[in-house]
Amino acid sequence: MRFLPVLLGLSALVSARCGTQPPSEHVKSRHRYFLEKEDREDSGAVTRDVFSTTIETYVHVILTNSTGVNTTSLPSQILQQIDVLNDNYYDTGFSFDLVDVTYTRNNNWQQISYQSQTEWEVKSSLRQGNYTTLNLYLGTIGGGILGFATFPDDLSSPREFTLDGVVVDPNTLPNGKAPYDLGITAVHEVGHWLNLFHTFQPGNNDPDLPGCFGHGDYIRDTPAEAFAAFGCPRVRDTCRGVNETSNAYSVPGTDPIHNFMDYTDDRCLTHFTPGQVRRMQNSWVEEREAYQAGGSGLPFRPVGRIARPGSGW
Ligand SMILES: *[C@@H]1O[C@H](CO)[C@@H](O)[C@H](O)[C@H]1NC(C)=O
Ligand SMILES: *[C@@H]1O[C@H](CO)[C@@H](O)[C@H](O)[C@H]1NC(C)=O
Ligand SMILES: *[C@@H]1O[C@H](CO)[C@@H](O)[C@H](O)[C@H]1NC(C)=O
Ligand SMILES: *[C@@H]1O[C@H](CO)[C@@H](O)[C@H](O)[C@H]1NC(C)=O
Repeated sequence: MRFLPVLLGLSALVSARCGTQPPSEHVKSRHRYFLEKEDREDSGAVTRDVFSTTIETYVHVILTNSTGVNTTSLPSQILQQIDVLNDNYYDTGFSFDLVDVTYTRNNNWQQISYQSQTEWEVKSSLRQGNYTTLNLYLGTIGGGILGFATFPDDLSSPREFTLDGVVVDPNTLPNGKAPYDLGITAVHEVGHWLNLFHTFQPGNNDPDLPGCFGHGDYIRDTPAEAFAAFGCPRVRDTCRGVNETSNAYSVPGTDPIHNFMDYTDDRCLTHFTPGQVRRMQNSWVEEREAYQAGGSGLPFRPVGRIARPGSGW
């Protein structure tokens, strides 16, 4: 239990380890920019195009002498994972087209932890495509971390391009290991890759600043949430009694424990909000697609989803 605060989130882990600060003014200004744009869209001042895009997806399986997965069922689980992505992103305008699956066996790649030499070796060996291509790596991360992803960045360094992508533990695939066995970890991580923050942001990411306050997740239609939720609580309201308008971008209400960008069990996570969908779409056009041509944007930050303490992960 002593380690619980550190385990509450990958970003907290990162802050503790490398001193990453709460989102910089640059990050905040980028999100405020999108908020203003979306407010103009809401007021009808801007006409929105119908959004539809297909994301070419490469899956890279990393196996070691200690990977605890059934390699016989893995190919069909990967197809099921792509179906789960398509089902859950159906209303967002994003779809995923599986181009190729690669299998690499390397006993030196035991744990693909964020910012590790292994992460660099894996991604520099396997990454495919450009900045609009999804590279989904299936490998053991360890430490109860189910997955992590990178936000859209400004591509000012080739290193950031190489590290771009999503990593999930292969046991999080459909028919993997309960309670994270419906493939929702990849849905959550791809949400980050498409520029969504956790619903409890800044919350666990800034341990001194619960998500009831501050900028929240920069999405207007997600209620404020102090910290990540685990399991599947019937109802939860961590910001109850707090003046929720103190969180500049939120609506009053109970915690969004069924939102894909929280930490609850797979069966508990069901949807994105319209505000999140719009943010993904706007970010796609103005970041991933635009950076492809060279632009500027968000500093590089990883984010992740971790398992419920005591769940055996
Ligand atoms: C692995 O998966 C295959 C195909 O689904 C199944 O027949 C086999 O029983 C599984 N092996 C184990 C050890 O669960
Ligand atoms: C797996 O391979 C690594 C690297 O070669 C080795 O150090 C380790 O002992 C091996 N583990 C098992 C369980 O065989
Ligand atoms: C980026 O890659 C996608 C396939 O993943 C391709 O359709 C697209 O044309 C590429 N864009 C550029 C600018 O090369
Ligand atoms: C809640 O906070 C907002 C913003 O800080 C403030 O304008 C408002 O007066 C507060 N409401 C109450 C009831 O304290």
